[in-house]
Formats: sequence, structure tokens, C-alpha cells
Amino acid sequence: MSALRHIIITGVSSGIGLAIARAALAKGYVVQGVGRNSPNELDGQENWTFTPCDLTDLAAVDGVEFKAGAHTVLVNNAGTLGPVAQSENATAEEINACMLLNVTAPMRLTARFLKEVAGEKQVYFTGSGAAQYSIPGWSAYCASKAAIHMYAEVAAQEYPDVAIHAFKPGKVDTPMQAQIRKTTIEDFPSVAHFIEEYESGNLVDPNTVAERLLYVIEAQEKPSVVFPISQINPLS
Ligand SMILES: NC(=O)c1ccc[n+]([C@@H]2O[C@H](COP(=O)([O-])OP(=O)(O)OC[C@H]3O[C@@H](n4cnc5c(N)ncnc54)[C@H](OP(=O)(O)O)[C@@H]3O)[C@@H](O)[C@H]2O)c1
Repeated sequence: MSALRHIIITGVSSGIGLAIARAALAKGYVVQGVGRNSPNELDGQENWTFTPCDLTDLAAVDGVEFKAGAHTVLVNNAGTLGPVAQSENATAEEINACMLLNVTAPMRLTARFLKEVAGEKQVYFTGSGAAQYSIPGWSAYCASKAAIHMYAEVAAQEYPDVAIHAFKPGKVDTPMQAQIRKTTIEDFPSVAHFIEEYESGNLVDPNTVAERLLYVIEAQEKPSVVFPISQINPLS
């Protein structure tokens, strides 16, 4: 089944996006990575193509040519933590860059995907618990993820024939978590908790997130529009 599937993933140079790309290739998907940087390790692999695109450049987002098939999945994964600071210290430029990457680009890419791609379609967003849980120091990030969760809810109602979901991956061991651990307590009061989670070995492996997402993609029965990836157990 998966050999006929196409999957388009944004933000594949590291972390969750790279893990999804690797796992999808291993299952025989035709994979199109979209982002600023291609992961060198996938170069030359059959079924892999990379489309360079800075997703904060909306003209570039509109220029992305989808590599689609009879069944195509779009995973809007690229994201940024944005400014980590008390709200009064976040600049308009920082807020705008965060909203462009985390909200406007995935909304625009999804709108084009829904309109331009024929056949069976699914759309996923890498959401976050930070959409539903307020975290001082992360005002732009929390607001952006709340926005994309709600976009997924609206789009899912507008396009009932398309599986549209935002998944909450948990705290995942990626460069974004490393960036979080480097912030200061003044800017991010919870930094010690994130360091402790890492040192206690509590971060989720990105490969686990990828495996569970692919399971949902291939499942007939889908979870709720916004769902925690931890509730998905491919072995159950
Ligand atoms: N890690 C966690 O604990 C966690 C928890 C909840 C949600 N998430 C979400 O998971 C997603 C992936 O993050 P990650 O944790 O895997 O971190 P990551 O390794 O830093 O991945 C972020 C990806 O976004 C890409 N990206 C950044 N700016 C971009 C731009 N302007 N244009 C195109 N691509 C851009 C990065 O590529 P380049 O920098 O090479 O361009 C990278 O591939 C994000 O949406 C994040 O909010 C992560």
C-alpha cells in the first residue's frame, strides 16, 4: 500500500521531520522534503527529492511544486521556538518570523495542497502541548501552536473527506530541545525542568514519533483532529 504513497514533509534537516522522512523512505513512500536545508544523509536515495524553500518567504512557499500521486500526505512540520523572553522583550520582527513559519506558511501550503493536489489526501501539522498549556517566556510559540491547532480544527470541518490532524509530539530529543536548554532562567523560568527532563532520559526519541505518525497515516480509523502522539500505540 505505502509504495504508491507520496509524502511531502517540511523541515527535514533534523529532528522530527528528518525522522519522518527516514521512516517513510524505509516504508517505500515517495518523499519530498521541503525546507532551507536538505539532510545530506538522504542524498541519492531512491524516492527522495528535496525542494529548497525558506518557509518564511511566502513567495517561495507559493512556488513549491508538489510531487503528488494517487494518495498524498502533507506533513507541516517545520517550526521555530521563536523569541524566548518575557512578552515585553519580544520584538515585532521576532514575533512575525515565528508566526510566518509556524502559522502562515503551513496554512498557505495546506490551502494550495487542498486546491491543487488531486486524489486521496491527508494533512498533518506538528502541533504542541504548548498550544494548550501556557508557558511563561514562550508567548509567541504558544500562540502560534494554538493558532495552528485551531486551523486544523477548522480545515477538518471544511474538508470532511480529507484527514486533517495536528499531533502533539511530547518533549522530543531534537535540536529544538537543545536550544531550549540553553535559554536563561530570566527569559525562560522553566528551563531547569527541561534540563532535568533531558538528564533523566525522559525525552521522546524522534523515531518513535515518526513510527507512530506513519501508523496513523496508514490507519483507517483516525484519532481526534488534535491528538497526542503518545496515545498512538502501533503494537496494541
Ligand atoms: N522537540 C520537541 O520537544 C517539540 C515539541 C512539540 C512540538 N515540536 C515541533 O516539532 C517541529 C519540528 O521541530 P524539532 O523539534 O524536530 O526541531 P528541529 O530539529 O529544530 O526542526 C525544525 C525544522 O524546521 C526547519 N526550519 C526552521 N526554520 C525554517 C525556515 N525558515 N524554512 C524552512 N524550514 C525551517 C529546520 O530546518 P533548517 O533550520 O535547516 O532550515 C528544521 O528542519 C516544530 O514544529 C516544533 O515546534 C517539537
